[in-house]
Amino acid sequence: MIDRFLHSEPTSLGRIDQPTSGYTVRLNELRGMFADQGAWERMVSDDDPIIYEVALVEPKEPGDSDLSYGVTVLHAGNVGGEFFFTRGHLHVPATRPELYYALSGAGVILLADVGPDGVVRATDQVRLSPGWVGCVEGRWAHRTVNTGDTDLVFFYVWPSNTGHDYETMARSGFGRHLKR
Ligand SMILES: [Fe+2]
Repeated sequence: MIDRFLHSEPTSLGRIDQPTSGYTVRLNELRGMFADQGAWERMVSDDDPIIYEVALVEPKEPGDSDLSYGVTVLHAGNVGGEFFFTRGHLHVPATRPELYYALSGAGVILLADVGPDGVVRATDQVRLSPGWVGCVEGRWAHRTVNTGDTDLVFFYVWPSNTGHDYETMARSGFGRHLKR
């Protein structure tokens, strides 16, 4: 992984040189997550917009000393007034943290403390603006929300030997719906 940092060429803001993987998430993949189901269905059948794009750098075989990193471009928009967001996940195990660095745009990291029964026990949120750096403790489920009018672009780093649980949060939600 160090080699990759050393050999990486400078690129434009929010663009990773030589990502090992990447993906795009459209609105249809966020079924059941927005509060206004009718608005979600209308937008999906209309043009099913791209909500966010991810570029990642991860080792092929993660070891205990490896770090992975990525950049997400979360587009601006809303579903029935609710701002676009990332799917959100839990880290497995819950001791693995993640460092975030906001590059451009305006937004929020939504945090949720989820019990073993899958019920949200507490929520919190942190405002993101360009230059903001902070660490999310592993015990908090996290989702990013674009509350601005332009792309929200952020960089993040996590221990490579971290699992990601998206299913629990798809069921439980984050306990908050941020609207215009
Ligand atoms: Fe994470």
